[in-house]
Amino acid sequence: MTPINKVLLSKNTNINPIWIMRQAGRYLPEFREIRKNNTNFIKLCLNVNLSSQISLQPLKRFNLDAAIIFSDILMLPYGLNQKVDFKKNFGPKLGELYLNQLEKVNEIDFVEKLQSVYSIVKKVSSNQILKNKNTIGFIGAPWTLLVYMINQQSPKQDLKKDFFKDTLLINKTLSIIEKFLKIHIKKQVDNGASVIQIFDSWAGLLKEKDLPKYIYAPTLNLVNYIKSLNVPVICFPREIKNYIEFCDIVKPDAINIDYNVNPKDILKDIKIPVQGGLDPKILLTDKENLKKEATKYLDIFKDHPYIFNLGHGVLPETDPEMVDYLVQIVKNY
Ligand code: CP3
Repeated sequence: MTPINKVLLSKNTNINPIWIMRQAGRYLPEFREIRKNNTNFIKLCLNVNLSSQISLQPLKRFNLDAAIIFSDILMLPYGLNQKVDFKKNFGPKLGELYLNQLEKVNEIDFVEKLQSVYSIVKKVSSNQILKNKNTIGFIGAPWTLLVYMINQQSPKQDLKKDFFKDTLLINKTLSIIEKFLKIHIKKQVDNGASVIQIFDSWAGLLKEKDLPKYIYAPTLNLVNYIKSLNVPVICFPREIKNYIEFCDIVKPDAINIDYNVNPKDILKDIKIPVQGGLDPKILLTDKENLKKEATKYLDIFKDHPYIFNLGHGVLPETDPEMVDYLVQIVKNY
């Protein structure tokens, strides 16, 4: 069994596997080298050769326990024919959402448009370097995708004032998102993804009263679907008001925590395996501080099934040497 499966499935507390959100990305010079000549991000995500190479770059440098597929949560709206652009120093910019066009998308066209993503999963997961390691497939949670598709860009601090106004559009879009996320998950699993992580980056924007409709119900539906495929699922409802209630209702195989929650509170009230937590900004400080902060998480979760990771993606300005040091700290703990 892989180290990550030992934690997720056997609830092993003697090992701390590690992988890092955004481990394949801009902090690596070898990524920037490829990115320099491939300015269209979506095209890069659909380039089977380059994206497979990028997914494996961090594993060539560091002793990580998993590869995460180099792709993006916004490949879903792209597959649904909504325009998606990534602008430098701005982030994602999506085109207008037209419900009548969205309703016309069928499974065959969707899968054809994203076929390269599934070929990348296959290519990455069959690489020798992943022997006894996991290939992590992923999706954006329905809520976070709804936010991008309607808001057409990152909401930064808050949603547009009239975000919830068109209930017909919201409800129909949510159900279309759920339908195609299942297809997207199944295709990744069929091609070798052995864990699925659900990123709900904007969970923190919702008021508590809106959590059942926009987060609990749709995420539970997907978690149950992933479990039916016999693949473990990790949820990351970033900055959600109540991680405990989320776990009680949604019951993923593991929960990734953000860096604003107190890990001691999580340990006290959450029984399922935990992942992540360390503030990515700690990697911008010095080795001594990194060791102190990483050890804090390892100490707190020493008798709890725990996968080491960060509380959000690794920052582009991170020195790869610090990532290497972090992996060593975790492996030598
Ligand atoms: O290494 C990995 O984690 C795998 C690849 C991955 C990317 N995006 C590549 C990427 C994953 C898992 C994601 C998830 C993702 N994408 C999320 C959820 C996690 C989170 O960060 O909250 C979200 C919200 C997105 C949407 C998205 N994609 C944004 C907001 C941005 C712009 C901001 C940024 O960090 O540049 C992207 C672009 C993106 N996705 C890059 C990468 C490597 C940067 C592309 C570049 O400019 O080179």
